[in-house]
Amino acid sequence: MKLNANMPIGFMDSGLGGLSVLREAVKLMPEENFLYFGDSANVPYGNKPREEIRRLTFRVVDKLMEEGIKGLAIACNTATSAAVKDLRIMYPDLPLVGIEPAIKPAIEQSKGGQILVMATPMTIKQEKFRHLLETYGEGHEVVSVPCDGLVSFVENSMFDQELLNVYFKKHLSPFISDRTESIVLGCTHYPFLKSNILEFLKERHDRDDIVLIDGSYGTARELKRRLKEKNLLKKETGTLGHVEILNSSSDSEMVEKSYALLNMPEI
Ligand code: DGL
Repeated sequence: MKLNANMPIGFMDSGLGGLSVLREAVKLMPEENFLYFGDSANVPYGNKPREEIRRLTFRVVDKLMEEGIKGLAIACNTATSAAVKDLRIMYPDLPLVGIEPAIKPAIEQSKGGQILVMATPMTIKQEKFRHLLETYGEGHEVVSVPCDGLVSFVENSMFDQELLNVYFKKHLSPFISDRTESIVLGCTHYPFLKSNILEFLKERHDRDDIVLIDGSYGTARELKRRLKEKNLLKKETGTLGHVEILNSSSDSEMVEKSYALLNMPEI
């Protein structure tokens, strides 16, 4: 299908996490239309074998391509690390961006303290992640924090602080030290837990100075740049675009939950 400026911009994620990237894109390109596909029937991707993640990602992207999109954001760190290289080969003309843990921005802002990277076990295991650490991490203390199961809290709208505290105490607390200066949210679901993480750090570790960093704004900006480069941004008319959300889950509330997350007040 020939790309044209009036087509929507496609977004995909294993579920609802990519909405944290989509909301940045909507702010940056308010006149554009967006088509988001969340694969919640298959979430989480982050503890599946690489081959399965690739197969699932290709299937979702195929679907978006069939619907007709002029650009694509793989708004999932896990799918990006497993499949983005091949997607670029499969769709050479499509403006395409992936998201990766924002280690580079964290290092640029670093004052020499320890940087933690929360991500899915799969993202942490990948070659792409090792490469990121080798490229930017030298001379810095960057520590991976595998967060198996954290995605489910967002998928199930479980934002109860006490429940999350139990999770964070087990999975995050062992890594927090006096040297911790920032935490990279290396999974697109985690920005929706930002206030819970900050609350936990304050309550349980008496720390209100740890900075949380995620790559959603940078990814949205790169997407806009690539669309512009190919002359695929809509002409400015002052009319707001719309967001259409599709989800593979049989739970009919998933789409409604998605709009609620998209409009969740940010901190
Ligand atoms: N939102 C995803 C990410 O950025 C993946 C979560 C999952 O399905 O495990 O990694």
